[in-house]
Amino acid sequence: MKLSKLSKATQDKSIQAKSAEDNQPNLRLEPNSKENVQNILQVADLKVSFDFKKVIKGISFDIAKGETHALVGESGSGKSLTCSAILGLAPENAQVSGRIIFEGDDLLEAKDKILNLRGKRIGYIPQNPMTSLNPVKTIFSQLKETIQIHKPQLSKNEIFDLCQVLLLQVQLKNWEKVLNSYSFELSGGMSQRVMIAMSLIGDPSLLIADEPTTSLDVTIQAEIMHLLLEMIEKKNLSLLLVTHDLGLVAQSCKTMTVLERGEIREKGLVESILQNPQHEYTQSLLKGAKFG
Ligand SMILES: Nc1ncnc2c1ncn2[C@@H]1O[C@H](COP(=O)(O)OP(=O)(O)OP(=O)(O)O)[C@@H](O)[C@H]1O
Ligand SMILES: [Mg+2]
Repeated sequence: MKLSKLSKATQDKSIQAKSAEDNQPNLRLEPNSKENVQNILQVADLKVSFDFKKVIKGISFDIAKGETHALVGESGSGKSLTCSAILGLAPENAQVSGRIIFEGDDLLEAKDKILNLRGKRIGYIPQNPMTSLNPVKTIFSQLKETIQIHKPQLSKNEIFDLCQVLLLQVQLKNWEKVLNSYSFELSGGMSQRVMIAMSLIGDPSLLIADEPTTSLDVTIQAEIMHLLLEMIEKKNLSLLLVTHDLGLVAQSCKTMTVLERGEIREKGLVESILQNPQHEYTQSLLKGAKFG
């Protein structure tokens, strides 16, 4: 575990919200009622199977408005599949059940209405920006396509202006050059900045980032996480961050869920869990035994 690597500022940031309740080890954050407007996302008894092989076995967790929540677990534990289910992007042969309540709407109930809604209000940042961007289209062409889906009323000039705003937001100062580039002409870090810009097009209230820095150089990872967290704070977004890196969890998230083979082992405040893990699986993750 890399907690010792954390900067002082980072530790200060991660150690917030001190209350008597916060000090409870293994604090349970049970799903609240549908009426609880404090939760932007409630996942309740989510199950995903393939040909009756259960992969996600009835998991429940909530994310409050403005909260940063980490989903951790070793490879194959079901983190990406959970994200896909929330985004409505689970493989076609997957059987998905349970409740995924986003801003009061059950995403698993009203499929048509929700497809539109998810894209708009849930932004997605993938693990590998290079493979997520289309190599035969310029960045402008890809941003334009996404903008036209979300904001069909915009004129050509307005789309161009929005591209500029988006790329400057993610600190791509040479935005004009980036717009005319193909993804293979950009570095991994630049491509991920483009993906972050793209995820913000629909003015989302929740971002799902599935190992957003894993494919990047170590030096760039910190920059991209910094940018992501800055966006989250500025726009008061909620974050579901999938990661293997518990150091990153300590730096960036307030709450976390620990997943093992499709089951939740522990969930609650990051500070409580990392300081006093209750489950032996979490303890082994902390010892680094499960990290490669
Ligand atoms: N299309 C599919 N068909 C059958 N099984 C699948 C399919 N997609 C995922 N799975 C299974 O679901 C399980 C969870 O996969 P998932 O990709 O969610 O893991 P993960 O926790 O994201 O792992 P990693 O850290 O390696 O990304 C795996 O055991 C995988 O084999
Ligand atoms: Mg994954």
